[in-house]
Amino acid sequence: MAESDGIEKLIRPNLAGFTGYSASTSPDTLAGKVDMPLDNIIKMNANENPYGCSPKVLQALADCPHFHIYPDDGQQELRKLLAGYVGVGAESIVVGHGSNTLIDLIVRLFVEPGSEVINCVPTFDIYRFSTEICGGTVVNLIRDDNFAIDVQEVKTAISDNTRLIFLATPNNPTGNVIPRQDIVEIIETGVPVVVDEAYYEFNGETVVPLTGRYKNLMVLRSFSKWAGLAGLRVGYGIFPPRIADYLMAIKIPHNVSVAAEIAVRASLSDLDYLQSRVKDIVAERERLFGELKQVSWLKPYPSQANFIYCEVLKGGADELYKELQRKGILVRYFDKPLLKNSIRISVGKPEHTDALMKALRELED
Ligand SMILES: Cc1ncc(COP(=O)(O)O)c(C=O)c1O
Repeated sequence: MAESDGIEKLIRPNLAGFTGYSASTSPDTLAGKVDMPLDNIIKMNANENPYGCSPKVLQALADCPHFHIYPDDGQQELRKLLAGYVGVGAESIVVGHGSNTLIDLIVRLFVEPGSEVINCVPTFDIYRFSTEICGGTVVNLIRDDNFAIDVQEVKTAISDNTRLIFLATPNNPTGNVIPRQDIVEIIETGVPVVVDEAYYEFNGETVVPLTGRYKNLMVLRSFSKWAGLAGLRVGYGIFPPRIADYLMAIKIPHNVSVAAEIAVRASLSDLDYLQSRVKDIVAERERLFGELKQVSWLKPYPSQANFIYCEVLKGGADELYKELQRKGILVRYFDKPLLKNSIRISVGKPEHTDALMKALRELED
């Protein structure tokens, strides 16, 4: 952080020592650090879709003459389209600039200083990020050795101050799901529960059908992964209509761009194409898992998402990350108390798996 110039006295005290979210490396930041053109870099570090978006999205964007006009702040068409895709009423849908911003919006609706938010760690760090920014306290419950959550522990952690419980399924970065019965038991506590299904299309398990029954259930989805729109930023949530009304009221105006609107429309008109790419990614995930299991010094964990979490049993994960980066392959690495010496590999195309395995074998020699 820059040297103090007195500004610290004026910013909110709870943000003075705030730890930000550590985002994945982008190829642009590697100029001069790798011995290859940046276009050749194999990006397996941010759970993006290696096939990109639907060609219909590219065409629709190229054909759009309306980028000088603000998007519909009420999201009327988008909400209807997404409601049709999900199978709920349009009044239940709220769309965001990526599902990250919906996490932030939900936290802003429920959390104030003194509020507690239950978080099952290790998990997606934005739950902590947004809670702390709002001055709330994160109550971290540690998952077991296979990253499963303990429902009893969640129930015991609920206090009068609990305002939200976050459940990611599949979980990032570990890839495992939470059994539906466990989710139901947690919802039945009556505390507002956010089930984050950012990777839903890769496993097909959802609690959306329960949203009509429970007034405290919110489900989040993303277009970043399955639909290849990470760069355009589109996520949405399925909410009890009353909560959706509040979220629509407090969101920043025009929070979804015209380009994102067009991209959603075109993606939903090309579902067969996108779903067949998802199938390719799921098949490749299984092949990659089998290949990684052959590497004696890695311990891959089974995944229902589009990435695989691996413990590094010999040598440092940071060294492995750097070696792979030198060879033009980006992965995510962790070395913190709950994610010790490990990497997360996003599933790519078959040729990306081949290049990664070749690099790992070379490192073994
Ligand atoms: C569990 C989880 N939720 C939400 C997101 C955010 O996705 P988006 O790109 O829609 O903001 C991610 C992205 O990595 C994620 O892993």
